[in-house]
Amino acid sequence: MSARPFHLGWFYSKGFGPKAWKHEWAGPRSAVARFTKPDTAVDLARAMERACFDYFMIEDSSNVPYTYQGSHNAYLKHSVDTPKLDPTVLAPYLIAATEKLGIVVTCSTTEYHPFMLARKMNALDHVSDGRIGWNVVTGSNDGGAQNYGRDRQYPHDERYDRADEFLEVVHGLWTGWDEDALVLDLEKGVFADGNKVHPLNHEGTYYRSRGPLSSPRSPQGAPVICQAGGSGRGQAFAGRWAETIIASASTPEKMKAYRDNVRAIASAHGRDPDHIKILFLVSPTVDETQERAEDRYRRSVEIDQNEIEYQLASLSRQSGIDFSQFALDEPLPERLVSNGHQSMVAQWQGRVLGDVIRGNPLNSGSGAFVGTPDRVAAHMDEVVQEVGGDGFLLVNSYFSRRYVTEICDGLVPELQRRGLTRTAYEHDRFRDNLLAF
Ligand SMILES: Cc1cc2nc3c(=O)[nH]c(=O)nc-3n(C[C@H](O)[C@H](O)[C@H](O)COP(=O)(O)O)c2cc1C
Repeated sequence: MSARPFHLGWFYSKGFGPKAWKHEWAGPRSAVARFTKPDTAVDLARAMERACFDYFMIEDSSNVPYTYQGSHNAYLKHSVDTPKLDPTVLAPYLIAATEKLGIVVTCSTTEYHPFMLARKMNALDHVSDGRIGWNVVTGSNDGGAQNYGRDRQYPHDERYDRADEFLEVVHGLWTGWDEDALVLDLEKGVFADGNKVHPLNHEGTYYRSRGPLSSPRSPQGAPVICQAGGSGRGQAFAGRWAETIIASASTPEKMKAYRDNVRAIASAHGRDPDHIKILFLVSPTVDETQERAEDRYRRSVEIDQNEIEYQLASLSRQSGIDFSQFALDEPLPERLVSNGHQSMVAQWQGRVLGDVIRGNPLNSGSGAFVGTPDRVAAHMDEVVQEVGGDGFLLVNSYFSRRYVTEICDGLVPELQRRGLTRTAYEHDRFRDNLLAF
């Protein structure tokens, strides 16, 4: 048994939008049409809190992609990462439905001004009593940049340079009000003490902001900073700022290498590496018997493989490269140049495109965890021990309420029985729970 429990989060892939709309358990058309309502996410949040997850991470991107074949048609036909509604509007519904669960919203540093982002996160942290997190992304798709008035995304590494300064500005704004700036002295007639509220006067390379923020210091001071980019520059950024990282790696060795690297960077910045919790994507398939679980996993892989156009459109969106130009049965170029998700593209180059699709089933996450809850729990334990920490991020492309129940009421109780995950929250605030072990 592990010396200490590990952490759990959920990656709400495809954000505030449709999930597995044409697959079994999606429900009738009338249920699918409710993708613009908060109900499914609210049900998931309640189940996750029952299972004592650390956080619910809402993925996001803000454009209708058109990289594949230069057209948005395939994306709209199959619902490939579109449509999506604003995750910061969904968050308050999840906050209202839960008491301890951390809620992480994705917002891009190239789509917000630091002041606007700082203000929004501050308000969410106040109304949630300290349960908000921000997934810091920098944008990857040119179509996204075009919605905000630019021709293309800034170059990959410059996006992270900008993000570094962005984080300096928002942290300056979040700490601009001293903790005791609110006086609320009804007898003396003093609401707030002007000496304890400080303008920022930031004049940097990319941003200017006077400050102070228009609202007082929030319960956590700053949202929990979450990050996902796995390129060298992305990991350097994460080592400086991130408090939790959502990561994708295909083997325990790669997970360990990723974790060790980010922890070393954090130490070089004078940070305690134990203050960064790195959660790896997994998509377990659990069922009553090993046979049934394996059969279901096989069927999910078959479904993936029959969704060729979906997969090609998805790869194209992530990389900014139109994959319709490559033959399925031939190797991809040895050098694929991407200004998008570089860490993902690096795994594909030189391989036969059909194999990339077959070997990259939407559902596999960081290796397959398939079997009875008992067996999958034991496997997760082994992997965490080999990697050294810190936990897992659940994801499922064929997301349904059935899957949520299997994980939260089937797998997690087995993890808890083994002492691998918590059975009760230690604290009320998100960061405190994340740092509890
Ligand atoms: C697990 C995971 C989740 C991600 N979620 C999002 C997201 O919700 N929105 C987004 O724009 N990018 C998302 N990304 C992309 C990263 O934030 C980052 O922009 C991208 O990986 C490019 O950075 P890199 O080249 O450093 O890997 C995600 C990446 C990973 C690995």
